[in-house]
Amino acid sequence: MMKLRKAVFPAAGLGTRFLPATKAQPKEMLPLVDKPIIQYGVEEAINSGCDQIIIITGRGKQAIEDHFDVSYELEKMLEERRKTDLLKIVRSISDMMHVAYVRQKEALGLGHAVLMARELVGNEPFAVLLADDVIDHPVPALKQMVDVFNQKQCSVIAAQVIEGKMISSYGVFDAQPADGFNGRLFEIRNMVEKPKPEEAPSNLAIIGRYILTPTIFDCLSKTTTGAGGELQLTDGMRMLLKQEKMYAYVYEGRRYDTGDKLGFLKATVEFALKRDDLGGAFREYLKGLKLS
Ligand code: UTP
Repeated sequence: MMKLRKAVFPAAGLGTRFLPATKAQPKEMLPLVDKPIIQYGVEEAINSGCDQIIIITGRGKQAIEDHFDVSYELEKMLEERRKTDLLKIVRSISDMMHVAYVRQKEALGLGHAVLMARELVGNEPFAVLLADDVIDHPVPALKQMVDVFNQKQCSVIAAQVIEGKMISSYGVFDAQPADGFNGRLFEIRNMVEKPKPEEAPSNLAIIGRYILTPTIFDCLSKTTTGAGGELQLTDGMRMLLKQEKMYAYVYEGRRYDTGDKLGFLKATVEFALKRDDLGGAFREYLKGLKLS
């Protein structure tokens, strides 16, 4: 039986939607309250049973590596000042697990970024998490997908129902309902990138969580570059679909697109409100705003 152990985080994109903040720092390091976006994703992968993390980085992404590394000076200073709570928080990040990095020299697309992980992943299934999509639920979205994967033993892609015209901002599934999993599972027939609303084959959008079999690497290496000279993951997955069954799974949870400014603000407010140490005071502050 195939078991999921590895999680790949493509983080070599340019983050143009968040300029100028992303001019000299990766968008994955922008904090939601006090934790960088990518750490939410890494914790989700760990809590879903993955024990190897592979991050695809590019130019200007050094801060991500530093974040998951040991910070001797900081730890020494916190130790000397007896800031044990902070020391625990800082240590827990580098203790979390081994993280490997692969460099994507040019931002040639998400499919190309995933292909960079080929050697480290090898011949086993793996997860791809787009850290921008932060999904909040007591059972991690990836864990829900792992349950499907363990039963079906083939690729599982996250889906969200998107009503109305907004569907044309997403990759969209053409899929038919499958048995089990409370009506959340669909067998994929096809996928199209950003269709016109009237041409969308369904209201099921592709979201940034994937469990893929290693066959995807062969498919990606045979895929020709598509829109904008980029190698698209969706094109590779369409080729995979010709060889293997694939499922779309409508996860339970609330998703925030934190690569988008408004999505980032929504996540910041809602995560702050949920915090034991901040929620009360922040709620009072928000109530006092004269919003018309
Ligand atoms: P996005 O479409 O969000 O692009 O990429 P982006 O460059 O990060 O951000 P914007 O749209 O310019 O603001 C989806 C995911 O794929 C990764 C990104 O880091 C992000 O996690 N990616 C994209 C790569 O790793 N390499 C690429 O060449 C392209």
